[in-house]
Amino acid sequence: MTNQDWLVKNDGKLEDCQTIAEIELSANPYRLFRFLTNLEDILLNITGDIHRLEKIRPLVRHLLNYSEWLHYEYLEPDPDTGWSVLTLYDEPDFPLTVQTVVWSPGQASPIHNHATWGIVAIVSGEEKNTIWRKVDPENSDAIEKISEQILYPGDIISFTPDAIHHVEALGDEPTVSFNLYGEADYERRFEFDPITHTAINF
Ligand SMILES: [Fe+2]
Repeated sequence: MTNQDWLVKNDGKLEDCQTIAEIELSANPYRLFRFLTNLEDILLNITGDIHRLEKIRPLVRHLLNYSEWLHYEYLEPDPDTGWSVLTLYDEPDFPLTVQTVVWSPGQASPIHNHATWGIVAIVSGEEKNTIWRKVDPENSDAIEKISEQILYPGDIISFTPDAIHHVEALGDEPTVSFNLYGEADYERRFEFDPITHTAINF
């Protein structure tokens, strides 16, 4: 457990954030409905993705540390695709994505942005995050690799809407993560091809 908090900004800068391990919240265990209520309060009262992420990261850390069930709540990787998603919460008109995601060892995602703020906490296994950025954001979809960061259980990485990355599951066991995203602006969400320098909506 390294318990490190990271922030990836739109320009590909990876910031090592101050980790607040404990926050004053209700008593153990931290129930999902309380987490969602605290989250809604932040979203209602705070504007700006970076400020929101600063406030949400400690909640995610608290959930990770004080919700034992979360560590067992995931699907096995789909044998055909090598990954699976389990939705933990879904309510019309409260457009959050709250899920656990599992990847088979060696599997990698496409290179993408999220078009909303996002936070991923590693529950088990190891995940390599490769960070990219647009070479000339105003004029082209060409991207270049900026950095790599291997995440371990207890690590949290957060993203601004135009941060670009891809992930790869390392090690011998599946990688399980808790993933939380805001409301995506789907027209601004892309998968990038670093060879052809093109991007497609997904
Ligand atoms: Fe992602």
